[in-house]
Amino acid sequence: MITERTLVLIKPDGVKRGLIGEVISRIETKGYAIVALKMMQADRQLLEQHYAEHAGKTFFEPLVEFMSSGPIVALIAEGNRVIEGFRSLAGATDPTVAAPGTIRGDLARDQGTKVVQNIVHGSDSVESANREIQIFFKDFSIERNT
Ligand code: RTP
Ligand code: MG
Repeated sequence: MITERTLVLIKPDGVKRGLIGEVISRIETKGYAIVALKMMQADRQLLEQHYAEHAGKTFFEPLVEFMSSGPIVALIAEGNRVIEGFRSLAGATDPTVAAPGTIRGDLARDQGTKVVQNIVHGSDSVESANREIQIFFKDFSIERNT
């Protein structure tokens, strides 16, 4: 059976606030499998690669600064339609209007910072997921089990 994988990041705000368990619990409770997991400090080079699509935007520098401001958790979640499913669990980018019941809607709010801090990242397409998984988990084979 061909299934899907997505890259999830628990951002520095999520780690600082002690929400690693809460985020993982929501992924697992929904029924997705976690097939890789690590805590790490992301450096500028890694983040510039990961956020290449946002290079040149006004929030790019604040975003890189924020994402390197403390440890993050990177994980790969797996399951049918997990990319769409995790984006649904995460909620809208802006936590002020993210629906209650979502990670961002329940656990984050506008903190008045230069860049939106919203607890989690989730890949937005199969192409992004494959690219991002290779950035954060170089040794993880995309073809595994498929
Ligand atoms: P993510 O990539 O983190 O899962 O979030 P997303 O798809 O919902 O949002 P995206 O447009 O990809 O933006 C990436 C992250 O950049 C920050 N951001 N700030 N106007 C702003 O201040 C602004 N726009 C985006 C957020 O942290 C967002 O998650
Ligand atoms: Mg995005």
